Parts: sequence; C-alpha cells; structure tokens
Amino acid sequence: MQENKNPLIIGSDHAAYILKEKIKAYLIEKHGIKVEDAGADSEKSVDYPDYGMKVAQAVSAGRVERGILLCGTGLGMSMVANRFPHVRAALCNDLFSAVMCRRHNNANILVMGGRVIGDVLAEEIVNVWLNTAFEGGRHQARLEKFDNIHH
Ligand code: RB5
Repeated sequence: MQENKNPLIIGSDHAAYILKEKIKAYLIEKHGIKVEDAGADSEKSVDYPDYGMKVAQAVSAGRVERGILLCGTGLGMSMVANRFPHVRAALCNDLFSAVMCRRHNNANILVMGGRVIGDVLAEEIVNVWLNTAFEGGRHQARLEKFDNIHH
C-alpha cells in the first residue's frame, strides 16, 4: 500500500510536548514527511485549545491534508478538533483504533494521549495511521451524513 507522504501539521500542549518532539523527529527521519509544528514550544503550561485550533483550522480549510494532535489524555484535543467542519479527529491510544479510524472513518487528524501511551506505541500508531487506506463505499456514505452538517 502507498504510504501517505503529504506534509503534516502537528500540535500539542505542555503535557505532550516531549511526545510531540519525538513524533515530529520520527515523521521526518523515518518517513521523510515534511512537518509543520503548530506548538507548543516547551513544557510550560498552556491551554490545549489554542494549539488544537491551529491544527484543526489548517485541516478544516484544506491547507494541510492531515494533522496530529497530542495532549495529556487526547480527550481535550479531540473535543476541540471535532468542532471544525470536515475534521474527523480520532483519539487512538491503541493499534486497532488506528487501523479502523482510517478504514472506516477516514480520520484526518490523529489524536493521542501523551500521559496514556508510551513513545514506541505512539510511533506504531502513527505508522498504521499513515499506511492504512480509507475503504470508501458504504463508509463514505456514512461520513457524508455528518461531514457536511450545517447548523
Ligand atoms: C493538561 O493538564 C491536560 O488537561 C491536557 O493535556 C489534556 O489532557 C486535556 O484534555
């Protein structure tokens, strides 16, 4: 299967800053992917929505095809990102979720919890998420039911 090598945008808060730096280096060195870093820039306490919004906006507007968001649990970043039109952010702290969020949900933002999983599992989740294709078909019809909601 063809790996997705398009540029990515990544963001985190302080709680997952170290994991963000590791994943960023991993994407560049192991996958040869260009990475835009939306911050945070240190382990100094920040508000996760500020960084979640930057990544989600870029994906929502179609400026970047896919993004990765990290916070302590992954929960806050998921909540923020999924407020944006056309964003399908998936919290994956296990490999099965990483496979299925691509096959069935065409997830365009991967979210992980830096206080939940270890670095090596996070890297494997990234590998799976980059290498698993969307199945389309009935799943596309299901995405269309919520992906174009106008309030
Ligand atoms: C920060 O303490 C923590 O609340 C944040 O990283 C995240 O887990 C929120 O959902």
